[in-house]
Amino acid sequence: MKEIDGLSAEDAKAEHKALAEEIRTHDAAYYQKDEPTVSDAEYDALRNRLVALEAAFPELADETSPTQKLGAAPARGFGKVRHKVPMLSLDNAFNSEELRDFEGRIRRFLGLGAEEEVAFFAEPKIDGLSANLRYEKGRFVQGATRGDGQEGEDITENLKGVIDLPLELKTNGEAPEVFEVRGEVYMRDEDFMELNRQQEEKGAKIFANPRNAAAGSLRQLDSSITASRKLRFFAYAWGEVTEVPADIQSGVLEQFEAWGFSVNALSKVCTNMEEAIEAYRRIEELRASLEYDIDGVVFKVNRLDWQQRLGFVSRSPRWAIAHKFPAEKASTVIEDIEIQVGRTGALTPVARLHPVTVGGVVVSNA
Ligand code: IVH
Repeated sequence: MKEIDGLSAEDAKAEHKALAEEIRTHDAAYYQKDEPTVSDAEYDALRNRLVALEAAFPELADETSPTQKLGAAPARGFGKVRHKVPMLSLDNAFNSEELRDFEGRIRRFLGLGAEEEVAFFAEPKIDGLSANLRYEKGRFVQGATRGDGQEGEDITENLKGVIDLPLELKTNGEAPEVFEVRGEVYMRDEDFMELNRQQEEKGAKIFANPRNAAAGSLRQLDSSITASRKLRFFAYAWGEVTEVPADIQSGVLEQFEAWGFSVNALSKVCTNMEEAIEAYRRIEELRASLEYDIDGVVFKVNRLDWQQRLGFVSRSPRWAIAHKFPAEKASTVIEDIEIQVGRTGALTPVARLHPVTVGGVVVSNA
């Protein structure tokens, strides 16, 4: 291979482009099809050359370079990221009465007459971890956890392994200068169970629920482990943006979808609070049949100019509320207790229960 010394910026750029293309093709064959097209040694040589080119010409190392993607050296610990717009939490309502009170407060605050309808956007409350994804000119440049709402951890590399997180927005060249998309990283129930099966075989840590599994997977220092964990993302909010692409909540989510994000299909515009309460009941009915865990329904005032006027009280918006589902409970009888022996010799007691239905699922072992 050529020496870097004496290489012109123009030649370096051309070589970098060709090399990046070649590495991406090998990556796709290896990661997506499980069919490597080169030996490990050849692959390493290509990557090393790319790293050397970027060391000599740092402007070539943009976010789309294969050096910035998975398989890159693991970071030691996570850096801190200060959120430009704080990541807030939501107030809770526990019954329909509290939802009507919420609407009453909004009406009074905005000074609305009785004839004016307040439309709400109802969305499932995903039981995962919120994340802030920063896009500059349509490219994913940084991802962070919520942390304390003001400052989170830089988990950019790990987020690159989330299945439905676009590294580049689909925009036809009209990408916003800055757009921070917020939403929930979660794991589907079947992926969680499969992960625990694998963990058990390895004698590794068993996760208590999909949320814990998602959290543990995001916190890996080695991003290739995160990438193997089948994490997914639902987009539902935004942080710092140069321009908001719509004037209603549901319109922004349509834009998210067009950019390539997953938005939750059960989300719905409700023309008034009675429809919103109906949406809550429908989502609660569907809860047990969903592929992922939800713990309530979030209601947001659909008009963004009203959201703006309503603003925040302490750490929650006045324009949104979460109606949590009541905790699911059921009683039954333990019929037997068996001790299972794992491959590594780990002993796990299993209670054989008289089958009981909790939230639409029949439980017979614990
Ligand atoms: S909106 C300013 N929408 O619930 C509004 N949050 O208690 C910010 N969550 O930290 C949040 N699903 O992790 C919103 N559809 C949804 C959500 C959702 C889950 C989580 C999120 C947030 C927490 C608030």
